[in-house]
Amino acid sequence: ARPVSPGRYEVTQRPARVEIVPGTTTEVWGYGGTFPGPTFELRRGSPATITVRNELPVPTSTHLHGGVTPPDSDGYPTDLVVPAGYTGHDHAHGGTHHPVVKDYRYPVEQRAATLWYHDHRMDFTAPQVWRGLAGFALVRDEEEDALPLPGGERELPLMICDRAFGADGSFRYPAAHDPDYMEGVEGDVILVNGAPWPVAEVSATRHRLRLLNASNARRYRLRLAPGGRFTQIGGDAGLLAAPVVHDEITIAPGERFDVVVDFSAYPIGSAVTLVNALAEGSAGNVMRFVVARGAPDDSAVPSALSRPPSRPSPVATRRFDFRRSETAWTINGRPYSPGVPLARPRLGTAEVWRFSSDFHHPVHVHLAHFLVLARGGRAPSATDAGWKDTVDVRPYEVVDVLARFDGYRGRYMLHCHNLEHEDMAMMADFDVI
Ligand code: C2O
Ligand code: CU
Ligand code: CU
Repeated sequence: ARPVSPGRYEVTQRPARVEIVPGTTTEVWGYGGTFPGPTFELRRGSPATITVRNELPVPTSTHLHGGVTPPDSDGYPTDLVVPAGYTGHDHAHGGTHHPVVKDYRYPVEQRAATLWYHDHRMDFTAPQVWRGLAGFALVRDEEEDALPLPGGERELPLMICDRAFGADGSFRYPAAHDPDYMEGVEGDVILVNGAPWPVAEVSATRHRLRLLNASNARRYRLRLAPGGRFTQIGGDAGLLAAPVVHDEITIAPGERFDVVVDFSAYPIGSAVTLVNALAEGSAGNVMRFVVARGAPDDSAVPSALSRPPSRPSPVATRRFDFRRSETAWTINGRPYSPGVPLARPRLGTAEVWRFSSDFHHPVHVHLAHFLVLARGGRAPSATDAGWKDTVDVRPYEVVDVLARFDGYRGRYMLHCHNLEHEDMAMMADFDVI
């Protein structure tokens, strides 16, 4: 997206018809009428304002996922932007008047990272993101500029999500009483940047792939076929100190992996497939790369990438138990209650947060980035490296993270990023004091 003036973007949320399944059209609800929405380029040290206007039939709230953002621009679920003339009664606390257009202000004091933005409306995040309300926001900084990483055409942000379609091409989303809804909604078609099973022509050089799982509920185990490796250079919240090589990457909803793949390892003209080893059939194929001859490669992945913030000492330990009740998904036994904080960490401190679960719950914390300290009492896995904002907590697992509360005081939230679980109340406030 192009700024309208330095540091100022404007985007209108509106319905649009696009061709996703060949020969049919799909109505999407998009930022700027596109799915994904425009990619916002942010720079550390350059504050940005994104003006969001709502021309959809429903209220919205926009959250910058991974953003270190003041609370009034964090996309709290009842901080709504409504369409003109909207008369619904969406949690209009004490007659709060909701605007039709809102300036989201981002100070952008954080490190270079792959962020994304998406809708966060109370009770309706899952169906509204499913309809298309999501996009990338990339933060760059001088530390990253100084590295010889692949860039320009050799840097590909890849938003991976699944959708189901009706025969007429429309997005198909189950009703809330459907048994498929409770555990989280999955589709049988995998989209990358809004396209099913796309092909990207790549030169036989290193490419930087910014992988984002923007699915409501599906996890992926990504591999390269006929073989190959991912060199991870960054996680959710920025560059790693040093690269980590993986044969496969399991990515849960909300997570990002910033990786480099060296396509010079494959013959010219060959196809390299990004597969999902967690599914068979159509959901097992993500996208293809076709390797072409290219200009010489002057990129490299240095063995020292960055100096992430060092590990702070925790001042407290808190537990958050993610569990299903009869009617909802709960944290510490309670369904979400707006305005009732489950924790009050102090600004400038760090705490150990212990997440336990009865199911797969990708746990996401707003504002505070964290390090994974332990998984099931053991060392974290190789894909847990670096500062993160979302961690995949597996069934009956206990995950300890060290979260730092930097940035701002005020009301934030943590929740399951399985968006159906989120809408079914697996969410909690915390106040930074
Ligand atoms: Cu990406 Cu509160 O979510
Ligand atoms: Cu978030
Ligand atoms: Cu969950």
